[in-house]
This record gives sequence, C-alpha cells and structure tokens, in this order.
Amino acid sequence: MQILLTGGAGYIGSHTIIELDKAGYDVVVVDNLVNSCEISIQRVSEIIGKPIPFVKADVRDTAAMDAVFKKFKIDACIHFAGLKAVGESVAKPLEYYENNMNATFVLVDTMRRNGVKNIIFSSSATVYGNPAIIPITEECPKGECTNPYGKTKSMLEEVLSDVQKADPEWNVVLLRYFNPIGAHQSGRIGENPNGIPNNLMPYITQTAVGIRKELGVFGNDYDTPDGTGVRDYIHVCDLAAGHVAALKAIERKCGLAIYNLGTGHGYSVLDVVNAFQKVNNVKVPYSIKPRRAGDIATCYCNPAKAKAELGWEAKYGIEEMCRDSWNWQKNNPEGYK
Ligand code: NAD
Ligand code: WQD
Repeated sequence: MQILLTGGAGYIGSHTIIELDKAGYDVVVVDNLVNSCEISIQRVSEIIGKPIPFVKADVRDTAAMDAVFKKFKIDACIHFAGLKAVGESVAKPLEYYENNMNATFVLVDTMRRNGVKNIIFSSSATVYGNPAIIPITEECPKGECTNPYGKTKSMLEEVLSDVQKADPEWNVVLLRYFNPIGAHQSGRIGENPNGIPNNLMPYITQTAVGIRKELGVFGNDYDTPDGTGVRDYIHVCDLAAGHVAALKAIERKCGLAIYNLGTGHGYSVLDVVNAFQKVNNVKVPYSIKPRRAGDIATCYCNPAKAKAELGWEAKYGIEEMCRDSWNWQKNNPEGYK
C-alpha cells in the first residue's frame, strides 16, 4: 500500500515515515516546506536506506495535488500538513484558517475525485478545551478552544466526520495527539522549531545547549501537585507507531473512528525539567514566570480505547523522551541548519 503524507517533512511526519516503512508501507511526501526543510527527508531516507518520493507542493494547489494522485497509486492519506503555532494563530487568524481549512478541503476533494477514501487526520488534545473529564476519554465533550489553531482542528474534525457520514465508504481516523516530544534514537531527526520555541521541550533543550539563558516556567499556582501545568507527554516514535495502528484499522474498514494518542500519565513542568536534568546530567536553569494566557492546569488522557481497538499503546517513558530530545539537540545544536 502507498500512503500519501501531507506535511511529511515536519516533526511528526518525518518520524512516521520510518514506522510506515518498518511496517512495509510505501510512502509519498507532499510538503511546501513552510515549517520544515528537505534535509529531514534526506535524513529519513538515510535511516530507512531507500529514497523517499518527495513532491514540494502546497496542499492547497489543486493542480499539483491532482498530479500527485495521477503519478502515484495512493491508497490512503495521513494529513499532517498545517500551521501549528498557537500564539501565532491568535496574531494571524486569517492565515491559519485559510491554510488549515483550505488544505484539508483541497486534499479531501482531490481524494474523492481520484477514488481514495481513506484518511488519518492529525487532530489534537486541544479540541477538549479545558477538559470536562480527567483522564480524558474520547467521550469527553469537546470544549471551547481559545485560539484559531485549535478551532481549525475542531472544525476539521466535524468536516471530516460529515464527509464520512455522507459517504460511508470513507474511512476517517481522527487522532487526537497529546504532547509529542522526543526524537528518533539515531539523533538524526527531531523537532526543529523556527525562532524562539513555544513548546516546553524544545525550550528546555535549547536552554540546556546554551541557546537560551533560562527556561520560564509559566505559573506555579495551578491546582496541580507542584503548582505547574500537567500534560501527557508522548514520545514521537510512539505517536508515529499509532499511525500505523490506525492504518490497520482503515484496512479493516473502520468507518469513522476517534482515538486519543497519549500515555495516560500526567507530568508537571517541573517533573519534566527534573527528569531531563537527571537523565542527561545537564543543568536547565529556570525561573517562575506568570501564567501564559490560554493555558489550562491539567491535560492527560485515558488511552484505553486505542489499546483495545488498535492494539496500540505507548512504550516509552519520560526518561526516554528526555534522553532522545537531548540526543537530537546536542547532536544538532542548530537543528537542520
Ligand atoms: P510541523 O510544522 O513540523 O509539520 C507540519 C508540516 O506541514 C510542515 O512540514 C509544513 O511545512 C507543512 N505544511 C503546512 N502547511 C502546508 C501546506 N499548505 N501545504 C503543504 N505543506 C504544508 O508540525 P508537526 O508537529 O509535525 O505536526 C503535524 C500535525 O500534527 C499538524 O497538523 C499539527 O497541527 C498536528 N499536531 C501537532 C502537535 C504538536 O505538538 N507537535 C500536537 C497536536 C497536533
Ligand atoms: C506544556 C506545559 C506550559 C513552555 C501546545 C498546544 C497544543 C498542542 C501541543 C498542537 C504548559 C509549560 C511551556 C515554556 C512553560 N499542539 N511551558 N514554559 O500548551 O500543552 O500544548 O502544544 O496541537 O494544541 O496548545 O504545550 O509545550 O506549549 O506547554 O512553563 O517555555 O509547559 O505552560 O504547562 P501545550 P507546551
């Protein structure tokens, strides 16, 4: 089977290529490189020991997407392509709505016209807003997203669900990722943020390597065991393996299915900082700062549905996540530059 990965040059997509290859799938990557570079694809190609068909194109470009579907015999798509910076989405709502919504509309329409009706969509725990239930099950009602990025994920879940309802031949898997961190054990690929990182782990690794002076811990007065925010961090290689499990469900004709992909463990900001320092024997200077607007206290999932129905569960713990994040950063202090 040949799988089209939109946004496959990015952080999660590049790791997913490796898992797909291990499981015997062929891939094609389409990416406009707006938040990535072709070096990631070259490095994945070295890791798997074979060339990776790559098309530099914007998913919103109907003609380019049609050409991809004509050239390759695509069986299913994993739709990673999208803009993902929460703060930037507040400052540039039109750009986020336009890119994330239109890329999905063009992709799904191109799939339909070419008779391909299998899609895995990169959704996010952000659709739960401030979650009504902890640990979060898939039955937990979706909440209010405070930013345009999160709203695109929530709306696109509805769009894809409606497409499947209108034509039950579609298989649509919505994967709600929790907080992906870590990197491939080779240290050759990893997260490569542009500019000052928004997310915790790249900020920690850049502080440890000396690019940033200190980590700001955003609030220590939350209702959590140590007052700092609690999240469900998941190793990106576990997350990547979740996509293979979802593809198997598509092959079994799953219709519409929604899964949380997380470990089910909640770690606070200080838990992560302490684990990182201990496992890697490096210092991460930090100071407590005010809360960040839009943050919630606690977010972790119950991943039982993915285990029961997909036979998937996370294998790696926080130590491996911290070790592999550091291995990537110290071997590539400036990312892919
Ligand atoms: P990423 O930015 O590393 O990868 C996304 C890729 O999409 C990039 O390579 C970018 O160049 C490409 N892209 C964006 N718009 C495009 C377009 N119009 N046409 C073609 N390519 C385009 O992000 P990631 O962390 O790998 O995330 C992958 C997906 O998972 C995204 O949809 C993201 O919203 C979602 N997600 C990420 C996280 C996270 O914390 N990293 C959590 C939940 C969900
Ligand atoms: C984690 C914790 C921060 C940075 C975001 C998106 C979400 C999803 C994943 C895409 C929080 C604290 C962070 C720092 C800190 N992305 N923190 N200092 O906010 O859980 O989720 O990424 O879908 O939609 O919202 O992740 O890594 O930004 O923060 O103290 O410099 O670390 O307050 O408690 P978050 P994060």
